[in-house]
Amino acid sequence: MKLSKTQLQSFSEDGFVMIPELFSMEEIALMRSQLPPLNSERCAENFREKDSDVVRTAMGLHLRNEVFARVVRHPRLLEPAMQLLGEDMYIQQVKVNAKEAFSGEVWQWHYDFATHHGEDGVPKPLALNLHIFLDDVNEFNGPLVFIRGSHKYGPAPTSLDTVTTSYPLWTVDRETVKALVDKGGLFAAKGAAGTALIFSDTLVHGSSINLSPWPRRIFSLIVNPVSNALTQYKRPEHQHHRNLTPVTPLADDCLLAKASA
Ligand code: SIN
Ligand code: MN
Repeated sequence: MKLSKTQLQSFSEDGFVMIPELFSMEEIALMRSQLPPLNSERCAENFREKDSDVVRTAMGLHLRNEVFARVVRHPRLLEPAMQLLGEDMYIQQVKVNAKEAFSGEVWQWHYDFATHHGEDGVPKPLALNLHIFLDDVNEFNGPLVFIRGSHKYGPAPTSLDTVTTSYPLWTVDRETVKALVDKGGLFAAKGAAGTALIFSDTLVHGSSINLSPWPRRIFSLIVNPVSNALTQYKRPEHQHHRNLTPVTPLADDCLLAKASA
């Protein structure tokens, strides 16, 4: 699967590109069905919401589950990433951000490179965040909100927020957010389950609480060029994997072929 010229342009101008219907409902159902046992594990990879026991983000999934071990090597994710990066990539982080019905909490305004650089010593903002919507994402269940084009102005100033949620994050202040929104406006990444999304390491984004009765689970794979690997090892392995082996795609039917074999 290759990105079209228009999709490449939209990635470079806006800092993100959405690809509707990239995964079928059968493939999504298979991924969803893996989540309950994974979420019930008591382990450091499962971050829970600040004020409840509900899992907010479940990390290291490709090392914990054989379906997600195949999802991270899916050609529909890796080929567009390879097209954008043009060099060998390793798997940096693998997770599902759950944002469960009635309880999913906020993700503050941030961009991922602030953490990748500040915590892990990644030199350049080249990593790509590849998402698959595991549920329909709508205006009610806490879609990601992007500041369109905010990747173009270089990394904005950040500070570490350890208070607002259960997940410490290098966040962007309100003044900077306002200035960037004045320039590019906001975009809510909504779409049906099966939609994919690719966004840049310096694109400012966040998401609000999930007030709705519907879950908003999103699978996220972060890939980074091997030549741009981490240089600091402060965070645990599941937040930034150390295995720099270049990731290679499997066959297009790798999810369902194995499921029915
Ligand atoms: C993230 O920025 O990694 C998470 C945002 C979200 O899941 O809403
Ligand atoms: Mn993020």
